[in-house]
Amino acid sequence: MAKDPVRVLVTGAAGQIGYALVPMIARGIMLGPDQPVILHMLDIPPATESLNGVKMELTDAAFPLLKGVVATTDVAEACKDVNIAVMVGGFPRKEGMERKDVMSKNVSIYKAQASALEQHAAKDVKVLVVANPANTNALILKEFAPSIPEKNITCLTRLDHNRALGQVAERLNVPVSTVKNVIIWGNHSSSQYPDVNHAVIDSPDGEKAVRDAVSDDAWLDGEFIKVVQQRGAAIIKARKLSSALSAASSACDHIRDWVLGTPKGSWVSMGVYSDGSYNVPPGIIYSYPVTCANGDWTIVQGLSIDEKSRAKLDATADELVEEKALAYTCISE
Ligand code: NAD
Ligand code: LMR
Repeated sequence: MAKDPVRVLVTGAAGQIGYALVPMIARGIMLGPDQPVILHMLDIPPATESLNGVKMELTDAAFPLLKGVVATTDVAEACKDVNIAVMVGGFPRKEGMERKDVMSKNVSIYKAQASALEQHAAKDVKVLVVANPANTNALILKEFAPSIPEKNITCLTRLDHNRALGQVAERLNVPVSTVKNVIIWGNHSSSQYPDVNHAVIDSPDGEKAVRDAVSDDAWLDGEFIKVVQQRGAAIIKARKLSSALSAASSACDHIRDWVLGTPKGSWVSMGVYSDGSYNVPPGIIYSYPVTCANGDWTIVQGLSIDEKSRAKLDATADELVEEKALAYTCISE
């Protein structure tokens, strides 16, 4: 029997990530090839014409799974009954800007949209915040939407996770699909800690630790970390625009694994509300290794953290605590 359609909201749908993301959702890449969807696309009034253009293209692409499109600049209409909300709307970082520079512009948007989601979305809506500063926007959304379960509000660090997989695969000249269990700890910013200490490569002879396969700790502890931390800035420098196709694809990965589950024996990175695991302060949205089953994520527990890693986990947590304080000053201004 055909499944009922799932309503998926994409905010900032007329922007560059939106333009890459909506066809992926309509093709079943986010929720599976047998899951019909109704797309809700929100943008702001100056983008109305462009948003309508995207809607026309969705019609023209004749996606079999796409059962309806709501394209609007009315946030209440956009949020009505949505089951999944991918929050991309906001202002992107430009060349030379740090993520903190986009904070004041974006956190107030997330405060307002929190209320709209709370009032109009499905009670069990799953929220993924992509817009930067992603962790702190997600935290603000959580704080101002108290009736949405905190487990349902997450932010995107899967792009960083995928970047780390890509770097390891490129270095070893192996298919990226054979690399697993890297971890992104902390903030979606240059303070994040891409950690390969538990990562493995699948091979016909079994699993091999990435550290053994690479056999170059200096690279893994230096250049590798730097490249992943700075990849967003490198893309901006190269394209004069921030990453879009990789961000859209990673957003699909994040929701797909959350809803449909992670494969046995592997985990992914997600920005989730900290419960104090790994001695990270509670009350921030922090990227952890998680497994997903039955529509819920669970933080992977018990991984050993060496001294060098500890300092890195703490540094990115400190930045998030600072960002939280700064966000509250932006909101109250
Ligand atoms: P973009 O400027 O191309 O698109 C953003 C869209 O949001 C625009 O169409 C704009 O009109 C719209 N918008 C602005 N305010 C809005 C509001 N209040 N409600 C609804 N829509 C609104 O930017 P982009 O390149 O698509 O990037 C979007 C965001 O994603 C940026 O904040 C960027 O920094 C972030 N980003 C995050 C990651 C990640 O991994 N977490 C990766 C890439 C980009
Ligand atoms: C990215 O990681 O590509 C985005 O967050 C864009 C940015 O500002 O770095």
